[in-house]
Amino acid sequence: MKNIAVFASGNGSNFKAIIDAVQSGELEATIALLICDKPGAYAIERANAAGIPTFIFNPRDYQLKEDYEKKILHKLTKVGAELLVLAGYMRLIGPTLLTEFQGRIVNIHPSLLPSFPGKDAIGQALAAGAKESGVTIHFVDEGMDTGPIIVQESVSIDENETKKSLQRKIQTIEHRLYPSMLNTLLARGEITSDKKARTY
Ligand code: GAR
Repeated sequence: MKNIAVFASGNGSNFKAIIDAVQSGELEATIALLICDKPGAYAIERANAAGIPTFIFNPRDYQLKEDYEKKILHKLTKVGAELLVLAGYMRLIGPTLLTEFQGRIVNIHPSLLPSFPGKDAIGQALAAGAKESGVTIHFVDEGMDTGPIIVQESVSIDENETKKSLQRKIQTIEHRLYPSMLNTLLARGEITSDKKARTY
């Protein structure tokens, strides 16, 4: 069974979908750790309810990104995390983690990248008058939502679409797509901490 670590900053509904998929056996993995950069985020309660260990930090307590990422790296190493799963983690990953987990960090984003990267992708799509948007799951690189795309799924934006209704449509897709994509990725056997065996 592969050990995964989930990174979240807020509500954690994607985190919950991943927990549910592990518990039902749909996703063959162990969630070894939740990393959260927002003390008080609801994602932490979800982890506690599921008995998942947490590392919670406040970036303001550190001078540099490198300082807290070194701490995260230490925790990840301790639990033997093999794949890092960003689920609403609203922070760029820095060189400390990127170097160590190259090709083993994935992110979910609520738009059809490269359209509408960054914050409030749903609001951006509505403001642009887009007729469709969707969900992208991609590998993480040093850019903002720029790494190689693994899978995308689109939704239509209706005439009377609101932010709330579009968010509901998008999250319904996310909660199905992320666990199933993670299972496929892990089953392929390409996620390994042996650097030589990596194919990405
Ligand atoms: C999700 O919709 C995810 O796609 C988005 O944040 C939301 C988190 O919701 N991520 C980004 O915008 C990353 N750039 P959740 O906390 O309920 O899973």
